Amino acid sequence: MDSVMLARSLFGSSMAFHIIFATLGVGLPFMIVMAEIVYQIKKDRDYAIMAKRWTKCQAILLGVGIPSGTMVGVMLSLLWPGFMEIVGQVIALPFQIEIWAFLLEALFMSIYVYAADRLPPALRIASVTFVALGASASAVLITDAHAWMNTPQGFRLENGKVVDIDPWAAVFNPSLPTTATHVLVSAYVLGAFAVVSVAAAKLLGRKRPERERQYHRKGLVLSLAIGGVMSLLTALNGHETAQMLHHYQPEKLAAAEGLFETQAFAPLAIGGFTDKESRTIRGAIEIPWALSFLAGNRFDTVVKGLNDFPVEEWPPLFVHTLFNLMVGIGSLLILVSIGSLVFRFVKKKEFPRWLLGGLICTGPLALIGIETGWIFSCTGRQPWTIYHIQSTASAATQSENLGILFVLFIGLFVFMLVVTALVLRYHFRRHPVTPEMLEAG
Ligand code: HEM
Repeated sequence: MDSVMLARSLFGSSMAFHIIFATLGVGLPFMIVMAEIVYQIKKDRDYAIMAKRWTKCQAILLGVGIPSGTMVGVMLSLLWPGFMEIVGQVIALPFQIEIWAFLLEALFMSIYVYAADRLPPALRIASVTFVALGASASAVLITDAHAWMNTPQGFRLENGKVVDIDPWAAVFNPSLPTTATHVLVSAYVLGAFAVVSVAAAKLLGRKRPERERQYHRKGLVLSLAIGGVMSLLTALNGHETAQMLHHYQPEKLAAAEGLFETQAFAPLAIGGFTDKESRTIRGAIEIPWALSFLAGNRFDTVVKGLNDFPVEEWPPLFVHTLFNLMVGIGSLLILVSIGSLVFRFVKKKEFPRWLLGGLICTGPLALIGIETGWIFSCTGRQPWTIYHIQSTASAATQSENLGILFVLFIGLFVFMLVVTALVLRYHFRRHPVTPEMLEAG
């Protein structure tokens, strides 16, 4: 493996770990706000208990998210010195503002954790809303740098030197609104379905007292409703995101859909594999005209195919599978949440055991959606780090000695993931929900 490939593999696998803590750390505070609001509307203490227990989880995630984020920051400078040289001059603003977002989150988190029971309802909701706002703002600010890498502006490179810098133009790059919205709503999807998985697993346990089952049923219904709405919003916004690709990164959209020939009335290819040799897609189910509609809201929209681009500038063609996985998972999550809620409320039936078994899988599926989304977006931009400005090869370190870093960093991330899972398990086993419910009356 050459040093560029090694740098990409190391950074990619580290991000795959970091994204778990980071995305849950955005999705969970949103769920806490929702539980608090329902508590204040219904005056049902079970929702306050949910909010409190999820806050403990969030505190643990925040504790791991900080070192994990720091490690990624260190890695950026070690592995991508060429990239950081441009980033430091052009798009440092969001990283600087992010410190304030973090401060907001941490400050209100302490207020909520230590004083929630002494606060009047409006202040209680306000404090937890600021926690969620801080977490979401952090995500938007960091995503801004990613959006700028896809649609860079606010500078020029002249003989390798960065000139004509306009930091605000860089911050407000064209893909910021759609990309930041996609990242936020998909994080809320993960937060909601993580709760769905846990509540479904608890309801599957046969020996649980009915009072505790009631509590978990409420958690399951709340998270299914929020997960359903957020999955729908993710899909609607995903449509806009695809239109942005059509406009700004057409070769990424062509690779996502395995489209070689430029054409109007282009079909959407579901499944199958893209074959570079024959320049065709094999084994896919094609929906006629659908890609043109996705790209431009009109069936006669002309969608550019890969043949219009030099082969050296094609993204890796396996991104088609990643795109299919993400969209497939999004569609499945919408159907599962609507189906489960119809079962419960229209048919007035308990969640059957087979359905609970299936619902346990939704959290991991949402996580796969997040991971495939990120890998699709970043791998689909290859061979560029900054689209059409800086190639990945020129952004990477020249160092040949990355092997030891690889072992060290991946080892650390695995360690952190295992410790987080063990700490969460230990904490919730030592503090079961029933005594809290009895205490609340
Ligand atoms: C259901 C239909 C969906 C569509 C049409 C869609 C579309 C897209 C597109 C076109 C991109 C690439 C953006 C770029 O490279 O600039 C993307 C990225 C991404 N997607 Fe999706 N997506 C969908 C569902 C989901 C779901 C369900 C999740 C996770 C739960 C998800 C998570 C992500 C993430 C984390 C990214 C990377 C961030 C970004 O660049 O926007 N997506 N999506």
